[in-house]
Amino acid sequence: MRLLFTTAALLLDFNSLVQAQATLPPPPQPTSSSETCAISLTPSYEVKVAQGWTAHLLARNLGTARGIKLDDRGGLLVVSSQRGIIHLNVTDRASTCPYVINNTTVVEDDRLNHGIELSPNGRTLYASSRESVWAWDYDPSNASATNRREIITNMTNTGHVTRTLFLSPSHPDLLLVSRGSAENLDPLAIPLENGISQIRAFNISNLTSSSPPYNYASSGLLIGWGLRNSVGIAEHPLTGGIFSVENNIDQTFRLGIDIHEENPGEELNFHGFLNGSLLSNQHHGYPHCFPLYNNTAFPELNSLTTGDQFSLNQTAELNDEFCARDYVPPGLTFKAHMAPLDIKFNTAGNKAFVSFHGSWNRDEEPEGYKVSVVDWDAESGQPVHSRRSLNAARDVFATGDIHRCRPDGVCLRPVGLQVDDRGRVFVSSDYSGEVWVLEQTGEVEEGPEEEPATTSNPAVRGFGMVRTEGWLVMGVTITLSFVGGCL
Ligand SMILES: *[C@@H]1O[C@H](CO)[C@@H](O)[C@H](O)[C@H]1NC(C)=O
Ligand SMILES: *[C@@H]1O[C@H](CO)[C@@H](O)[C@H](O)[C@H]1NC(C)=O
Ligand SMILES: *[C@@H]1O[C@H](CO)[C@@H](O)[C@H](O)[C@H]1NC(C)=O
Ligand SMILES: *[C@@H]1O[C@H](CO)[C@@H](O)[C@H](O)[C@H]1NC(C)=O
Ligand SMILES: *[C@@H]1O[C@H](CO)[C@@H](O)[C@H](O)[C@H]1NC(C)=O
Ligand SMILES: *[C@@H]1O[C@H](CO)[C@@H](O)[C@H](O)[C@H]1NC(C)=O
Ligand SMILES: *[C@@H]1O[C@H](CO)[C@@H](O)[C@H](O)[C@H]1NC(C)=O
Ligand SMILES: *[C@@H]1O[C@H](CO)[C@@H](O)[C@H](O)[C@H]1NC(C)=O
Ligand SMILES: *[C@@H]1O[C@H](CO)[C@@H](O)[C@H](O)[C@H]1NC(C)=O
Ligand SMILES: *[C@@H]1O[C@H](CO)[C@@H](O)[C@H](O)[C@H]1NC(C)=O
Repeated sequence: MRLLFTTAALLLDFNSLVQAQATLPPPPQPTSSSETCAISLTPSYEVKVAQGWTAHLLARNLGTARGIKLDDRGGLLVVSSQRGIIHLNVTDRASTCPYVINNTTVVEDDRLNHGIELSPNGRTLYASSRESVWAWDYDPSNASATNRREIITNMTNTGHVTRTLFLSPSHPDLLLVSRGSAENLDPLAIPLENGISQIRAFNISNLTSSSPPYNYASSGLLIGWGLRNSVGIAEHPLTGGIFSVENNIDQTFRLGIDIHEENPGEELNFHGFLNGSLLSNQHHGYPHCFPLYNNTAFPELNSLTTGDQFSLNQTAELNDEFCARDYVPPGLTFKAHMAPLDIKFNTAGNKAFVSFHGSWNRDEEPEGYKVSVVDWDAESGQPVHSRRSLNAARDVFATGDIHRCRPDGVCLRPVGLQVDDRGRVFVSSDYSGEVWVLEQTGEVEEGPEEEPATTSNPAVRGFGMVRTEGWLVMGVTITLSFVGGCL
């Protein structure tokens, strides 16, 4: 019943949209919250939005849009890889309909490629290249970044070249920096002193203008290791628990049998707390042990189950038993090759959003290309689902036709996430050079037990919008911001 009701509500909005479009000139700039959400950009591809959610295309022409960060004046800073940092001056006409007034280039530097952070007071900006992290004085009133200094360096390796940055509001002394491996299966990740496949934290409170930059591998505090490429880092807002999401190996064989299609899973890992209770000495397995996600036709499954770590061969030196004994399994495992690139919590601490950039190395059906939500227990600060779960991630927003993404099509490829204090989720997409805004505007379908909605009213489909398998599919011909209550 609830599903039908929501569908009907959307239909109503959509009909008003059709009428509005017939009578209105090209979208006017709204001037007050009572006016329509008419500022809208039309994507050049289809997206799907889960029931109860609205998606709104905020900006495009951003180049390879990677990390994003909201400043304290509502500006959104976007790392455009190999270009620099762009400031989008975002205004809030109505909660679901923010739009960009104007933009400015804050930093022009073709070395910047992903990482971005602001100090808790919003007046120091950080950004990274594959080699270094720099800091600037930042003024959000005119989006200026001045007085650049290099604070961390010597991080270059081939392969994984992004260096995610994370600053905790409650421990602003420590800048966390994640560095991935050079190769798919990288032996350089084995010695701790190489600083490969690790997250480290650097004390930035005692830096002076004459401090030399920290050398990544030989300084700082270890947050976690054995992490192939943990691109997303987040802190649980109530308990302070630090989590990261890890991209696992490709093209894998176990005992000579190709297992790459369905294994290993992508990972969510837990690293403890920055208050002095870090789990730094925990080794998460790479490049020795990997979590099982899908146990169908898995060679020598024995007693392994989803979430357990396995080794690629069984030798006296390294086997599944050693994996279980010596390495820490992930807190959650996700479907193979979805490529999680960011994780961010809502302020209540009962949900984490995860961006899945999407697979390139599945032979059958591609996976990912979406933003999902993972339920969290706000009190314990841990995921609600057990580490054995196959469906901890519920999808919120996804590319419409996943096959259009290969090999070089334009489609949604989510990267950076920001959740603002109204619960809206900003999402960058690098292939399409865009930023989207998601907002929960209605009741959300919880759990997999509910029957998916199957309404496919031909009148709706005619206008490029159709409900299928619980998704609202929005076509390329409609004005997205009208859907779900912007009118
Ligand atoms: C920034 O503004 C200029 C006009 O000043 C416009 O041409 C450009 O498309 C805008 N860029 C973005 C990313 O919005
Ligand atoms: C953006 O527009 C506002 C209002 O017109 C103006 O005050 C501000 O200087 C502009 N910013 C940039 C970067 O152009
Ligand atoms: C921004 O404002 C600061 C003062 O807060 C000023 O020093 C600086 O020159 C301004 N920068 C730009 C680009 O306008
Ligand atoms: C953003 O736009 C507002 C409103 O026009 C303006 O007051 C403000 O100066 C702009 N901010 C920047 C950083 O350009
Ligand atoms: C850079 O780091 C490597 C380890 O990754 C180390 O061997 C080398 O000495 C460092 N170089 C400098 C200049 O510190
Ligand atoms: C960072 O360095 C400052 C100054 O040396 C020190 O007071 C502070 O305790 C350090 N923070 C951490 C988390 O070690
Ligand atoms: C800052 O303090 C930390 C100890 O908390 C120390 O390891 C680090 O070397 C100091 N950094 C500088 C630049 O003095
Ligand atoms: C750090 O915070 C966690 C979670 O609140 C708590 O369990 C732990 O005891 C704290 N550790 C220290 C050293 O205060
Ligand atoms: C596991 O893999 C099989 C194919 O080998 C597939 O049919 C099934 O849907 C997969 N299960 C999950 C949970 O992904
Ligand atoms: C596993 O064993 C096979 C066959 O002996 C070998 O070709 C492969 O390199 C081994 N893989 C690893 C990761 O050791």
